[in-house]
Amino acid sequence: MARTPKQPPAPKAKSASRPAAAKPKAGQKRSTRSSSVAPPSQKAELDAAVDKLARRFTHNREKAGEYGRESALSPAEGAHADTPDLIAASTVSEANRGDKTGSRAGSGDSPGSASLDRVRTDAQGQRLTTNQGVAIADNQNSLKAGMRGPALLKDFILREKITHFDHERIPERIVHARGSGAHGFFEAYDSLRAITRAAPFARAGKITPVFVRFSTVAGERGSKDTARDVRGFAVKFYTDEGNWDLVGNNIPVFFIQDAMKFPDLVHAVKPEPHHAMPQAASAHDTFWDFVSLMPESTHMLMWVMSDRAIPRSYRMMQGFGVHTFRLVNEDGEATLCKFHWAPKLGTHSLTWDEAVKISGCDPDYHRRDLWEAIESGAYPEYELSVQLFSEAQAAKFSFDVLDSTKIVPEELVPLTPVGRLVLNRNPDNFFAETEQVAFCAAHVVPGIDFTNDPLLAGRIHSYVDTQLSRLGGPNFHEIPINAPVAPVQNNQRDGLHRQAIHRGRVAYEPNSLGGGCPFQAGAAGFVSFPEPVRADELRAKPEKFAEHYNQATLFYASQSPIEKAHIIAAFRFELSKVMVPAIRARVVSMLANVAPDLAAGVADGLGIKVPDAMPRAIARTPRAEVKQSPTLSLLARPGELGIQTRKIAVLVAPGVEAVSLRKVGDRLVAAGATVRLVGPRVGPIALSDGSVVEAEASLENEPSVLFDALVLPDGEAAVARLASDGRVAEYIKDQYRHCKPILVVGASRSLLEGIGASTVLADGSEDAGIVLATSKELPDAVERFVEAIAAHRHWQRETDRPLV
Ligand code: HEM
Repeated sequence: MARTPKQPPAPKAKSASRPAAAKPKAGQKRSTRSSSVAPPSQKAELDAAVDKLARRFTHNREKAGEYGRESALSPAEGAHADTPDLIAASTVSEANRGDKTGSRAGSGDSPGSASLDRVRTDAQGQRLTTNQGVAIADNQNSLKAGMRGPALLKDFILREKITHFDHERIPERIVHARGSGAHGFFEAYDSLRAITRAAPFARAGKITPVFVRFSTVAGERGSKDTARDVRGFAVKFYTDEGNWDLVGNNIPVFFIQDAMKFPDLVHAVKPEPHHAMPQAASAHDTFWDFVSLMPESTHMLMWVMSDRAIPRSYRMMQGFGVHTFRLVNEDGEATLCKFHWAPKLGTHSLTWDEAVKISGCDPDYHRRDLWEAIESGAYPEYELSVQLFSEAQAAKFSFDVLDSTKIVPEELVPLTPVGRLVLNRNPDNFFAETEQVAFCAAHVVPGIDFTNDPLLAGRIHSYVDTQLSRLGGPNFHEIPINAPVAPVQNNQRDGLHRQAIHRGRVAYEPNSLGGGCPFQAGAAGFVSFPEPVRADELRAKPEKFAEHYNQATLFYASQSPIEKAHIIAAFRFELSKVMVPAIRARVVSMLANVAPDLAAGVADGLGIKVPDAMPRAIARTPRAEVKQSPTLSLLARPGELGIQTRKIAVLVAPGVEAVSLRKVGDRLVAAGATVRLVGPRVGPIALSDGSVVEAEASLENEPSVLFDALVLPDGEAAVARLASDGRVAEYIKDQYRHCKPILVVGASRSLLEGIGASTVLADGSEDAGIVLATSKELPDAVERFVEAIAAHRHWQRETDRPLV
């Protein structure tokens, strides 16, 4: 900027041009900052040290390295020198220790990167105080002029308490508002050095701390857990080279191909703007209007209408990075990559009727399940696998790997397991951790890079942008749950809620006054993969993106008959809630491009004819490489942990046969299940032998849908008591209708018969999910029951129109 001639030169420019000899004499004022605090001898020492350090930086030696391709691929480390402590300081008075100030930061200190212990607080044995640390004498009454007099404005204690309360809420996430989190760790199976220099994969057995947040997408923060929806599966890896966030979903594809459409998608699925309904549901006009005009969403719709969108538990669903990423090794060689998480417990879902009922009796169903599993020591575990492929391979696929509406079928590129994720600690405080955590698709570390997926490009921008307002300013990376364990040192300063107290006067680079620190890391830091870009600037998509149905057909074709039936039923339900007939017909015309029986089934459910198939956006459909992919079925992953953590209800009433009750309970607990005695009310229940057990739950407070299996025990008196309660029939009906295993012992057979349930399937075979036994036959029968629970659901029992 030009100066007027009378304006004095900037002090920095003046001192920079002053020769070293112009050092002020002892006692002479050079600046208020230094002369007012430093004793003369120390100040002279400081001045000399500063000058000596600055002389080592005769010029910016790295400048030449800012130019040219070689420098870009292998940037040089920034020039730096050891800085004498005196110079690194903001002030020479830092040696004056105080209870509040402490003394000084050690060289390179970054206390924000220490474990969360540094911010955990505990009030045991402590007095109540204000936020200023003043002990509060009376927390019951506001300050008044006389017992019956007016409250006084000077009551700073009341005002502080109410003011803080008034500001307790922050904006919820614009999407994925409802979620639950947990801490844990990732353990690498092997070194992936040949493929990537990413820190978590550096060597076999390497442990990286993580925080994971699972979520629904559409509902508000207080909405139900069991909505039909995509689930977020976001993992923050606190690596020793900075935070890497793998912000994925439990479905490997997405609705749209380009970030430009994300706000439209979200506006369409969120409650309609005029009356703010429906909450946490896609079954309404605007969603189906939008997606039926966006045929690229067809593949995703198949997944969202499948049972994947109503998982039994966060612990029993897969996770996917969705986009194609790039892994980069030390030599700068890149491999394309898709990320997959698979739960050790297998993939299991609810039925729709069950999900609807659970949302009424326990809207926190998934949150509670995750919390209770971790508290009980049954730590959820997932295996991370990668699909690795080259650009050349990708170029040959019939679809584009930059298109997030496509998977790379496992038949084309197999999965390579690379490590495991274990969630072993619940947060101490939901708000401080789960609510304030800020995942970001842009958070990558050296060794992991983006591709040109146009959806990913929008995400790289969106997360930090939204978090600026959600978390109130640019320093939310300092909130403890977001702070990396890797040291953070840069020249960013100030802003709302700044926590770090930066030592020293240098907040720029290059510098000589801070010995060049913090200096650029050069090739040791994040170096973007140098993907060649030579093209016109366009608003368009590649031709391959125009094929919208092949993988929807693949998904549908890979489902078991029961899963296909569920998909048809889900479309039927959702579209029955759409009030505009033209939109219903439009969706069915899309489905006609996927599979004739799918379109016919949905049309039949809506009482309409199958319309003509929607015209395709591509002139000639490329031939799909894969026609069947068995692992796309949820049933492909039954899990390897038997009945561990399954919740089993045992109905009890006075007079339950004691011996059989104990036998069943002991065996189920030994197999790792959680057994609850459910009575007509909670409290003590006398057994047939006079002993007493405690009913932990009641028919009203823990309805049948909250359990994976049911035991109806023996004992004439107990059965008579249960039969007299209308809720018992509902209890059994729901278990039966939802295809869950039921163990029926002795006299309780009449309860099962009472609801008209058959133990024989439509094809005449025995229903393996219903185990009938006398008390004497129990040991064997319980083993069969355990097997039946491990199978999760007995779908053979299901009929589209429930018979019971
Ligand atoms: C252009 C497309 C997208 C945009 C603009 C976008 C934007 C956002 C925004 C603004 C949030 C809220 C973040 C916050 O307040 O902290 C969010 C959350 C989230 N997004 Fe996306 N998103 C997009 C696509 C996707 C895709 C494709 C996935 C899955 C791969 C995904 C997964 C998630 C997850 C898991 C969360 C919740 C993170 C958490 O638990 O805090 N998003 N997204």
